[in-house]
Order: sequence, then structure tokens, then C-alpha cells
Amino acid sequence: KQAKLIVDKEYIISEIDSRIYGNFVEHLGRCVYEGVYEPDHPSADEHGYRSDVIELVKQLNVPIIRYPGGNFVSGYNWEDGIGPIEQRPRRLELAWRTIETNEIGTNEFVTWAKKVGAEVNMAVNLGTRGVDAARNMVEYCNHPSGSYWSDLRISHGYKDPHGIKTWCLGNEMDGPWQIGHKTAEEYGRAACEAAKAMKWVDPSIELVACGSSSSRMRTFAEWEATVLDHTYDHVDYISLHTYFGNAEDDTTNYLAKSLEMDHFIKSVAAICDYIQAKKRSKKKLMLSFDEWNVWYHSRQNDQKLAPWTVAPPQLEDVYNFEDALLVGLMLITLMKNADRVKIACMAQLINVIAPIMTSKGGGAWKQTIFYPYMHASVFGRGTALQTLVKSPKYDSKDFTDVPLLDSVAVYSEEREELTIFAVNRDMQEALLLEGDLRQFEGYRLVEHIVLAHDDLKAVNTELAPDNVKPSSDGNAELEDGKLTARLGKLSWNVIRLA
Ligand code: AHR
Repeated sequence: KQAKLIVDKEYIISEIDSRIYGNFVEHLGRCVYEGVYEPDHPSADEHGYRSDVIELVKQLNVPIIRYPGGNFVSGYNWEDGIGPIEQRPRRLELAWRTIETNEIGTNEFVTWAKKVGAEVNMAVNLGTRGVDAARNMVEYCNHPSGSYWSDLRISHGYKDPHGIKTWCLGNEMDGPWQIGHKTAEEYGRAACEAAKAMKWVDPSIELVACGSSSSRMRTFAEWEATVLDHTYDHVDYISLHTYFGNAEDDTTNYLAKSLEMDHFIKSVAAICDYIQAKKRSKKKLMLSFDEWNVWYHSRQNDQKLAPWTVAPPQLEDVYNFEDALLVGLMLITLMKNADRVKIACMAQLINVIAPIMTSKGGGAWKQTIFYPYMHASVFGRGTALQTLVKSPKYDSKDFTDVPLLDSVAVYSEEREELTIFAVNRDMQEALLLEGDLRQFEGYRLVEHIVLAHDDLKAVNTELAPDNVKPSSDGNAELEDGKLTARLGKLSWNVIRLA
């Protein structure tokens, strides 16, 4: 089978906002405790942070990390996590039915985020709390000094304000599982008032309103329209969340699910534009896809866990090779929508539906999904180009006209680099790729990275951490602006040219 690709410097989608390679750390399971923080671990630094984990996070080059939830944030008193650690309360955490010790709170997380080189995307509680707690938190984090909350931060040892720029107005408030769940009207009003007060404290911040927790919610679309009717003038982004799984073990259908993500993005952008038109506004609202990933492997196990323990092994999906392919396809989808998606956070970073796993007192290793994420984050910075793809197509259970080849090109004028990300969805055959890169004639091939495996269900574990890993043995060739490559069946490819 053959596929064609045309890449043209002039066909620009948008400059990619590097924050689309963001991630998410929630007080959930072993993400914070035993992931970020394990003071007794041999690699723990002076703060108790695992330095083996920090090294892996740095390899991912994560620009922004959403914190502290997720469902957790809707019952969180942020004041529990500041001040002397020995005085912090142990709380019943209702979202995940655990005990929260509050050893890690805002300041500790900001310190850790600095160590991994990421900015913080802070979420406020609009479930059990409201305007007052939200504006106080902005004052505590961002006001320089001379007020109650900023001086309290200074007394806690943090003289300089944290300068947190991006804030989420609650989490998944459309979901009945959410603590303090609201109707669109109720949430729209609460978010609008919180947004105003937060920006009055610090006008430089940017705010994310909650969209639907998935496009399959009964209230989807109506929720976005109502919430934006209330908040449009006061917020900068609306959020999207999506998780996919392959419980029915239908790989061709599974790998087509990135098309659903694409459709979701385009639908939410259309709703934003409808509200913009309705309000005769000059402002174009952008999207924050602040939870996305594969999540299904651990669901049964989680139902067996006893409640009210500290850091139980929740949502510990062990990802296989086909999951890595879908994650690659989801990343390509985000890049292709770089004109509207300005922030995206893979959910989550460590142990909980995560690219990085740890064992208590033991090692830290890379799951299969680590690799496409790292490649996109490291090599996918620059301008997303409208890549013309001509590919054979297939139909699956839920999708029609699924292209076997999905691809996007990212061009960095500054570094004089062109990177082509490509997935061959074909279960049986390689795709012979022909690329017309006429404006890149002087370029040469730097490397053709391939992630492939004979076993779709192959995983990485602590004992076999390198079972699924990429190699640089792809066969791409470039001559006079003509690219040729054989993309193996079911493979993730990164073709780097400079
Ligand atoms: O990421 C796991 C959970 O998924 C988050 O807490 C919640 O926002 C979503 O339902």
C-alpha cells in the first residue's frame, strides 16, 4: 500500500503553543506520594522528592503541570496544604475515598515543578468552595507582599510570589460524580464571579472554564454554550477531557478513536465561535485539553481497593504497545489543532494513568506511552504545517474513512528543522510513503525513529523496562526534497530533517 504526503512551508496551521505538551499531577493514588514525594527513597533529595522521577520528567520536557486535581480539587481546602507540615490535617478525601495527609501542598508542589522546569496550571475548588477561597489563593500565590495572604506566604518561607499564570475554575463540574456538582447555569454563574475576583487580585492571570468531562456527556454542547454565555468575557480557555480504552479488544476501531478527539475539538471550537458571534465579541476563545489519555486497564482492580488508606495503587494502568500508538495519534491530533488548542495536559504524570511508574523504595521506569509523548514534546516545537495526506482508508465498528496514515509536520524556522510525525494504522502491511517536501531541498535526514513491536499487548515493567522502546533504525531517505520511507505495519514514526 502507498501513501503520499505534501508538506509546504507556507501552509501554516499555527505556531504550536508548547503548553500542549503539558501534564497533570493530582492528589490521587501514588501520583504525589511515592511518585513526586517519597522521603525514605534512596534517591530522595533534601525535600524528599524522588530524583529518579525528576530525571524522567525532565526527559519529557514538560512545560506546564495541572495541579492538584481533578476530582480531588472539588473537595480540597487549599489552606490545609500550607504552613508547618506537622500541623496539617489528615482529611477524608471523598473523591477517591482515601486519606489525604497534606504533606505536600501548594508551596511544595511549586518547588517541585520548578525542579522539573515546568510552570503550574493551578486549579481552584468550585465544588465545596467558591469566590472567597479562590481569590484568597491567588493572593497567597501571586501577590508580592503587604496583605494578609501574601504575608502569610512570606512567613511560610516563600518570599517571592509564585507568579502562577494559568488557573482552572474547578474541575468537571458537569459530572454527577463531582463533589459539589452543578448545573450549567449554577456553574456558569459561580465561575463568572470567581473569575472576576481572581482577576481583580491579579489581572495578569489566565483562566480556564470547565467544559464537559467528555463529549459523551448528555449535557455536552449545551453545557459549553451556557457556561460560556456566563463567562465568555472573563475567561481565556474552555476545557476538554477525553479518555479512550480498548476493552472490546478491537484494535482497528481503537486506533480510530483519535478521530473522535478531533471531532470533539472542532465541535467545542464551533460552540466558542457561536458564543463569540452571539456576544459580538472580538475575543476568540482558545481550548485547554487539560485531561487526555488512555484509561481502562485498571478500572476493575480499583473497585477492589479498600477505602481510607494513604496513597493506594489507584488507576495504575499498565500500558501496552497499541496504547502507545493511540497516544501518538492523539498527540498528532493536538498538533493538527494547534490553532485552537493552546494548552493540553496528558492525565497523569506518575503512577496514575501515567507515562512514568515507580515502585516504593525501588525503581522508576518508562511505560510504552512515554515515548510518543517525549518525541512530540521534544521535537514537536515550532509551527504546525497543514500536511496534505493521501492515504488508503478503512471502516471500523464506529468510524468510516479512517486514513491508514495519520501525520503532521512541525517546522522550526529558527532551528531549521522539519519533523514529520506519522502513524501507520494498518494491522497487516507496511505503507510506502512518498513525501513531496519541495521547499526543503537542502535538508538532510537526521534520524528516523520508529516505535514498533510484534506484540500489540507488550508492556514495560520494573523487571523488563525496555521491552517496548524506540529505535533509530527507520529507513527514510531524502533526495532533492523527495522523501521515501517504508512505515512498518502498526508503527509510530518520527522523521527528523534539518
Ligand atoms: O484523571 C483522573 C480523573 O479523571 C480526574 O480526577 C477527573 O477530572 C477525571 O474524571
